[in-house]
Amino acid sequence: MQAKSNQWNNNLAFLLAATGSAVGLGNIWGFPYKAGENGGGLFVVLYLFFVIVLGLPVFMAEVFIGKTGKGNPVSAIENLAVKSKSSKSWNLVGYAGILASLIIAGYYAVIAGLVVNYGFIAAAGFGVSDPSTVYAAEVANFWEMTFWFSIFLIASGVVVGYGIDKGIEKAMRILLPMLFVLVILMVGYGAVRGDMASALSYLFSWKAEQFNAGTIQAAVGQAFFSLSIGMGTLMAFGSYMPKDQKLGNASVVVVTADTAVALFAGLAIFPLVFFFALDPTAGTELVFKTMTTAFSEMGLLGQFIGPLFYFLLAVAAFSSMISILEPSVVFLSEKFSMPRAKATTYVILFCFLLSLVSVAGFNVWKDISIGALDNPFEAMKYLADDFLLLLVGTGISVFVGWRLENTINSDATGITNKGLLNLWVIILKWVSPISLLTIWTLGNLQILFDISFF
Ligand code: PFF
Repeated sequence: MQAKSNQWNNNLAFLLAATGSAVGLGNIWGFPYKAGENGGGLFVVLYLFFVIVLGLPVFMAEVFIGKTGKGNPVSAIENLAVKSKSSKSWNLVGYAGILASLIIAGYYAVIAGLVVNYGFIAAAGFGVSDPSTVYAAEVANFWEMTFWFSIFLIASGVVVGYGIDKGIEKAMRILLPMLFVLVILMVGYGAVRGDMASALSYLFSWKAEQFNAGTIQAAVGQAFFSLSIGMGTLMAFGSYMPKDQKLGNASVVVVTADTAVALFAGLAIFPLVFFFALDPTAGTELVFKTMTTAFSEMGLLGQFIGPLFYFLLAVAAFSSMISILEPSVVFLSEKFSMPRAKATTYVILFCFLLSLVSVAGFNVWKDISIGALDNPFEAMKYLADDFLLLLVGTGISVFVGWRLENTINSDATGITNKGLLNLWVIILKWVSPISLLTIWTLGNLQILFDISFF
């Protein structure tokens, strides 16, 4: 059958695309460093808890909007608002999601560019250089960083420009299996050559004394970011979902795969960190400074394992980057009836400018703080991840729970168990908005004004 360009060819396509989107830098770069910063086991348990209680329900709600509303994230919400006699202003949730996706694209491409750069550095070997010095030199170089992120951005744009079947689905069919094989190879290496026992005990032992508001916010934020919630991607991908595909089952598959890869990433990284007696709490630099120390300690072998690791990160980042671009591309092309290639070019150009600002945050503008935020890179990350993401998540929850309640049934969701369906609605109506807004308020008071309550 000839596929229409606004629908996936088959049921597998959504699973591939959504998993490719979910599994990204958030899993392999973000999850391990946040677990490291927040006490290991405690963070992991909280993360798993929030993925199940809030992540999965809101993930389903976002896909539900796309699947039943059709169209880009803004028009899907507008269509459903009309049907449910709600205010058209609900479309603000769609606009905010698109805004968040653009900001994320701006800084995500920069980290991804650094990853690609590191693949080459690791392949060449570190020789006698100290990995910390190498890192400082790399991020200080505005033009080199710009070169690497531009390559990454253009490559992602080319895939998105080809459309959802010929571009996105086709790319995901190659990238996703590759990603799973690579992560398993890395875990295998950690098990045979690293200190897996220490890694397991670090990731799965509960240290109650580290429990505070910051840990909770980090775990929720990470869960939402990792599942690609709140940026319009899931609405866009959901709108291409065939009518007969079961929303509930598909969401469980994607959420499980994403969580598994995050845990595997921890089991790939920490055995090496502990084996070489390195510090697990290096934060965002864990995969750049700490891991490179491990690779350089391995000598010649590190010149194979190192690039393999960065290749894994690059593949994961690439499949996510494609999905980050999709909401704004489909929005522009539908709203202004422009060809997809043209819309993609505009989006890439805009992201290029944002990425320049983000790169400057590492070097030329590194001392320009914006309020409590250290530099423009941190400011962009904050605005998208900590500010917009949970707000959009709340908006999605409230819209589906309160305004679309009457349209929720077994047919639309593929969930036949009435109890589960009711539980989903209760979570969307009450549990998720109240918890998300509380966490959002406490977290932002702490970040912006340094006010903490516990
Ligand atoms: N989920 C991706 C990750 O974990 O790296 C990041 C991401 C992709 C965020 C797509 C948002 C999005 F729309």
